[in-house]
Amino acid sequence: MATDDDKRLAAEAAVAEARDGMLVGLGTGTTAAHAIAALARRVADGLRVEAVATSAATATAARAAGIVVRDFAEIAALDLTIDGADEIDPRLYAIKGAGGAMLREKTVAAASRRMVVIADGSKRVAAIGAARLPVEVLPFARASVVAALERLGAAVTVRVGYMTDNGNVVADCRFPAMPDPRALAAEIAAIPGALGHGLFLDEVDAAYIAADGVVTRLERDGPSD
Ligand code: 5RP
Repeated sequence: MATDDDKRLAAEAAVAEARDGMLVGLGTGTTAAHAIAALARRVADGLRVEAVATSAATATAARAAGIVVRDFAEIAALDLTIDGADEIDPRLYAIKGAGGAMLREKTVAAASRRMVVIADGSKRVAAIGAARLPVEVLPFARASVVAALERLGAAVTVRVGYMTDNGNVVADCRFPAMPDPRALAAEIAAIPGALGHGLFLDEVDAAYIAADGVVTRLERDGPSD
């Protein structure tokens, strides 16, 4: 089965969790795009939900699909957020941000009662760490943040000609190994000018991962199937 079909199946499984009255966070990326489409189909069938978008692109796509998108600045809490990932492991640790939206994605995920990752099987790993780890950087502090990331052991590439929805730059970090993601997350968070990063260690409550047409659900607490 094609990877895109697996993305769609994972997205549809997650969107099945949406219920009338929910405020739903919508992620960013190709897998999240399937969730937007699946949610739009359910809205067209009568589901009453509103959404918050994790990027301008997602807001545009969701509105075009007929979903009401609210301003997150006015929202204190959401019911359910559905988003993709670049890597996800059995601890439900994820690396996100290949699409550069990780700061808004984490902010929305943290405000959500439940955050669900959707992914095709290529994203499932034994332990996160091989994917590039994006860090959103205040442009004013670009060189000092890059130097601090290099001191942490990263090979750093600043995305050329790229600006986040927040007007910042992104430094992609490759670490030779990531034995302690929690310690690394704390070290990056402590760098002045590093505004956010793609390590999601506490936000993910569940994951729907589809491989060869079979969807597997992983739960942080409770049974999986
Ligand atoms: C964007 C993200 C995406 O969710 C992540 O990169 C996965 O994208 P895709 O579904 O296109 O593979 O974190 O910032």
